[in-house]
Amino acid sequence: MKIGILTSGGDCPGINATIRGVCKTAINHYGMEVYGIHSGFRGLLDNDITPLTEEDLTGLLNRGGTILGTSRERPFKKRLSSSQNKPALMLKTIQEMQLDALVCIGGKGTQKTAAKLAQMGVNIVSIPKTIDNDVWGTDMSFGFDTAVTIATEAIDRLHSTASAHQRVMVIEVMGHKAGWIALHSGMAGGGDIILIPELEYNIRNIGNAIIERLKKGKTYSIVVVAEGIKTTDGKKAAEYIAQEIEYETGFETRETVLGYIQRGGAPTAFDRNLATRMGGHATEMIANGQFGRMVTLQGSKIGSIPLEDVAGRLKLVSENHDLILQGKRMGICFG
Ligand code: F6P
Repeated sequence: MKIGILTSGGDCPGINATIRGVCKTAINHYGMEVYGIHSGFRGLLDNDITPLTEEDLTGLLNRGGTILGTSRERPFKKRLSSSQNKPALMLKTIQEMQLDALVCIGGKGTQKTAAKLAQMGVNIVSIPKTIDNDVWGTDMSFGFDTAVTIATEAIDRLHSTASAHQRVMVIEVMGHKAGWIALHSGMAGGGDIILIPELEYNIRNIGNAIIERLKKGKTYSIVVVAEGIKTTDGKKAAEYIAQEIEYETGFETRETVLGYIQRGGAPTAFDRNLATRMGGHATEMIANGQFGRMVTLQGSKIGSIPLEDVAGRLKLVSENHDLILQGKRMGICFG
């Protein structure tokens, strides 16, 4: 069999480990030929495709980014300015290259595109990839554990400087719609206030929580916010919350935006192994002719679900998530 592999959407730690998992299994175990498609779906439009050999797969486990490059190309998005029929163009490339199957590694947008390509008859197996952990149907995607680890380390470091200056420190982590990184790093890093897009907040409650802490002799506070929380004046999350806390409490407040640091660099051991398992499973599915599905982790088991179940859905944090309930029992303020 001849298979193609592409990575699409924002990068995250563990993509290269996944490529390695897919391709080594394909070459070593199944004797398949593997082709790397560059810059996501754009590579199918531009015919930017090269064979991948064992040599290309060396040194990938701990390498951040993606050796195939990525893009946010959305070939099914209708644009009046473009006369190109992108779906037809992709199909033509797949047929010309005689690819028997396509592995698409990506987040929500990629799963949507993959589902549409599958509907057009392409043999697709997709793998969820995002630090945000918001792809529906999988308990976890690789990249998330690494991002949480980096964010937790950053929060750990804020404690000492916040304590030295008796300040309120606000740290903004990624997550537009879903607050998974803020929740997990906030809890692991000992955040006192954690704000996520899924839960409403009231600045008075936050101010009161900080004042109550002072009354208990806690002279500094750590506030962890997801980038996607609502702000009223268009300001970035951390900037807005810091300004409002200072106004509400009079405490000296500083903000930090962690940004792309949480998306770059080497994956954790957990993410490397998750990526390897998911990659290997994707290849096994191709060998078994199981197409139109996304690889998942449910509990401790690697499996798969139909792509049409995933497309257009988001996995959000529930207000009854046990980390939230436990946090509340320990006095952490969630807004
Ligand atoms: O990968 C998901 C994500 O990290 C979001 O949380 C973040 O807002 C977004 O990507 C930003 O990525 P880019 O600037 O590459 O579009």
